[in-house]
Amino acid sequence: MTALGQLVATTGLDEAEGGFARIRLSPGETESLRGSCAALVRENSALDSPEFLAAAREIWEYLPVRLRQGVRRFRREPGETGALLIEGVPIQEPLAPTPRTPDAVQRVASAASAGLALVALGLGEPIAFAPEKSGALVQDVVPVARLAGSQSNAGSVALKFHTENAFHPHRPDYVMLLCLRADRDASAALRVASVRQALPLLAPADREALTRPWYVTEPPPSFGGVRTGTEPSPVLTGAPEDPDIRLDFHATRPIGARAEAALSRLAAALDEVCLDLRLRPGQLAVLDNRIAVHGRSGFRPGYDGGDRWLHRMFVHADLRRSRQDRLGDGHVLADRADRPAPDPRHL
Ligand SMILES: [Fe+2]
Repeated sequence: MTALGQLVATTGLDEAEGGFARIRLSPGETESLRGSCAALVRENSALDSPEFLAAAREIWEYLPVRLRQGVRRFRREPGETGALLIEGVPIQEPLAPTPRTPDAVQRVASAASAGLALVALGLGEPIAFAPEKSGALVQDVVPVARLAGSQSNAGSVALKFHTENAFHPHRPDYVMLLCLRADRDASAALRVASVRQALPLLAPADREALTRPWYVTEPPPSFGGVRTGTEPSPVLTGAPEDPDIRLDFHATRPIGARAEAALSRLAAALDEVCLDLRLRPGQLAVLDNRIAVHGRSGFRPGYDGGDRWLHRMFVHADLRRSRQDRLGDGHVLADRADRPAPDPRHL
């Protein structure tokens, strides 16, 4: 074997375990990543600025080889589960209390948010939606007392399976969730289910029904101005043997009995193949939002600063595709309704 062949054979993804592809960073690799995070924060700490992202794009090239190889492989081939778990991402110490408000976001980089951004720049380009969490690129996923019963990231009842921003024409290609603090019972599970694993459990007639434009997915009220996505659409699109999936069991409404029956059998199939992941601090889950849906088990928050705390980031593999919806070629997607009225001199 050549030297390069030996290198390739001994690096990249660790063995898949529990159905997830994993990259377990060694203590040395974690320290190396911590150093890169610190260098990035020294360079620029304004998470949403073009300068921060430019620096992160450059520093990505200096991350541990196994991490870069594993992320790039996942980009090309997300596997049967559509999920990648990276372990050993550095978290700052001491850790602040868990925020308690639904609009909590990160604007100034820390070790954790810098590490998240570095991996995002290896996957593609981070994006956010103007009506959601004030358009911040790094968002906090935390339980909020008055939203305990809601079907949202701030709830603590079981969250139904969904594609992230399923209604949106430019929904994320990847959803990244980095755990800073687990829930006090260590019981909250990120639930991930892949259409690649669910599809073989469906009858041909149900698969066919799911490819028809028989499903309407409503945007949440905060996205009132979104221009598309509410017309009837298929749940499954693309290659029949390896389709993309788009649905939200809280917001997708089937049109007609056949569509409804197929959707309920898809729900059962997704439940059957679902993998539960109880994230611990320093674990980063990367989900391919085109082939995996996700949800969360219920859990018991204390609202005392010690609750479950994740940083969330969305990524587009191809940023150019959404150019029309991004003002100034930035990273935030604005609804058409959010745009300033065009200057009549330029019409
Ligand atoms: Fe989600």
